[in-house]
Formats: sequence, C-alpha cells, structure tokens
Amino acid sequence: MIDINTLQRDLLARVNESETPEQVLKAPEFRDLYAQIPTLDPSERGAFGQRVNVLKKAIEEAVAERRLVLDREELAPIDVTAPFDINSALPNLLPSENGTIHPLTREIDRIADIFNRMGFVRENSREIDDQYHMFESLNFPKGHPARDDYDTFMTVERDQEGDPLIAPAHTSTMQNRSMVKYREALEQGDPIAVVVPDRVFRNEDLDARHEHTFYQVEGIYVAKGVHVGMLIATLQKFLEEYYGKKLEVRVNPFYFPFTEPSFEFALSCPFCDGKGCSVCSQEGWIELLGCGMIHRNVLKAAGIDPDEYTGFAFGCGIDRLVMMKYGIEDVRHFESAKLDFLRQF
Ligand code: DAH
Repeated sequence: MIDINTLQRDLLARVNESETPEQVLKAPEFRDLYAQIPTLDPSERGAFGQRVNVLKKAIEEAVAERRLVLDREELAPIDVTAPFDINSALPNLLPSENGTIHPLTREIDRIADIFNRMGFVRENSREIDDQYHMFESLNFPKGHPARDDYDTFMTVERDQEGDPLIAPAHTSTMQNRSMVKYREALEQGDPIAVVVPDRVFRNEDLDARHEHTFYQVEGIYVAKGVHVGMLIATLQKFLEEYYGKKLEVRVNPFYFPFTEPSFEFALSCPFCDGKGCSVCSQEGWIELLGCGMIHRNVLKAAGIDPDEYTGFAFGCGIDRLVMMKYGIEDVRHFESAKLDFLRQF
C-alpha cells in the first residue's frame, strides 16, 4: 500500500532537484496508484481517486514553478554596472566620454526628418553600384563628356556588361531605382516623393573643402503637373527649416544631363544675411546645390511617360550644409575620427 503523503513529499523533492521536472509527471508511482484503485473496497475508491488527483495537481504546479526557475537561470546574470543612472529623470543617456552620435549622422537624421514631414520617404543608396545607375539611366550615354566630371572610383572587377563597378559619385544613382520602385503608386495617383541622404565618393584632390568621401541628399518628386515653382519652394522651405530662419534664394541656369532645365541653387548667406562675410567670400550668396526638372529620357528609362508626368530632382552636399550651420572650417574633420572635434557635438 503506497502512502500518498510520503509519496507527495518524495515527488516534490524530485521535481525541485530535477533539470527536467516534467519527467516526474511520468513517474511509475502514478501508474501504481491508479492500478491500486480496483483492489480497494468500492466505498473507498472515490475518495482515494480524489486524493490521487489532488496529488497529481500539486506535482503539476510544482513542475510549472520549477520550469520558471530553470528558464530564468538561463539568462545571463546581471552583474555589470550600467554606465549611466537608469533612474535619472534627465534624458541624459550615455556620458559623452563613452561616445556620441557622429555630427553628420545626427544632421542626416534631421534633414531626413524635415523632408519626411514634407511627405518624402527616405531611401538609402549603396557603396558599390553599376555604370547604368551612375550614368546611362541618367541620360549620360557611353562616351558622354560629362562622365569625366565625376572623378569616379572604379573597381578592377567588371560587371556582366564588361564595365567596371563604381563607388557612387553622387546620390543621383538612386533616381532610376526610386522611380521604378514607386511607379505603380504613381499610376494609382500618389506622387513619387523620395529623399536619399547617403555617402558618395570622388577621387578628388583633398583640401579644406574637398574630401574623397562625403554626403549628399538627393530628392526626387514626380506627379502630374509638377513645375519649377514647386522645386524652388520645396528647397527654400527645407533650407529655412534647417537653418531656422527666413532665407532668400536664387536660381541660375546650369547644365546637368539628367535635368532640363537645370539650375544651380544659391541661398542668402545665413551668417551675414546676404551682406557679405568670410563664409560667403563677401558674395552674400552661397551656391549650395544642383537641381532641375527631370529629363524626359530619365523618366522614360524608369518606365514613366514624360507626356503624362513631370518631376523635379535635386542633389545637395550635406557636409557643406552642416559646416555652415556650425561654423566648421575644414571638411576633413568629419572623417578624421579626431575626438577633440567630435566631442564638441
Ligand atoms: N548629382 C549632381 C552632382 O553630384 C547634383 C544634382 C544636380 C542632382 C541636379 C540632381 C539634379 O538631382 O537634379 O553633381
């Protein structure tokens, strides 16, 4: 005759020592208990059966509790000290000696955020691309002289066409992809509104204003009836929002193969409000970016009918924008990894 109380104590001890407590529920003692029922006097069977059920329940609960303890033990012990006070009411997370966000990363997020509020979605560029996206899709056919303006880094490896791959020299490489990606939405009546803030590379002679690795933000807007006024207003609003003040803007005709007409866009110097200072070389104006109405051939290359839709595009150097905002005198600081520079932000 098995004593249920003794058995319960024994089973509970086994559960609490086991790494696989569920096994205890299959203990042969349970079978023995059930086997015992028919041997009992019929008047005792009900009460006995109930006691067995109560026992089973108690073991099941103990197993569940033990399982929780075991699972918790698998987590790494928390014995490192947090480098900041997690109970602080101040939004001050890591102390700056442990690192801060790079000023360009932070400004890129701000730029994308302003455009986002104007309805533009953000896309990323790539660090290796092909000649089609760098040139052909942008209306620079093979042999086009303007290809040479870009001082493009190329790889030794060749693509399927036998052309070298390239490190993109402008974010315009994403114009074709962005238009193809959102073309279907355009056909449903939504404008294509994309910004691409990302890294670009040029084989430049380095000085205070030229770096081999720098950043641009490309903008692409396509819909029915888009015109130059919308381009100018969008850029002016963006710049006023970024510098937090009213600005005058100026557009001069220029040439890019992928826009027609093309413009060079200048803003009144945010430092001297156009009066002339060292930042704007006494000009009062700062040439900041290239822009224009997307060329028919570029729309066609993306499968968009230029008789039905028009669009504008712009490409703006981010480093320059940020340098002017904070009075940074040399573009090479950004990639220098100099802590003295970075800790100021
Ligand atoms: N990709 C040009 C450059 O890096 C800048 C540019 C000019 C971009 C005109 C544009 C544009 O989208 O429309 O020199």
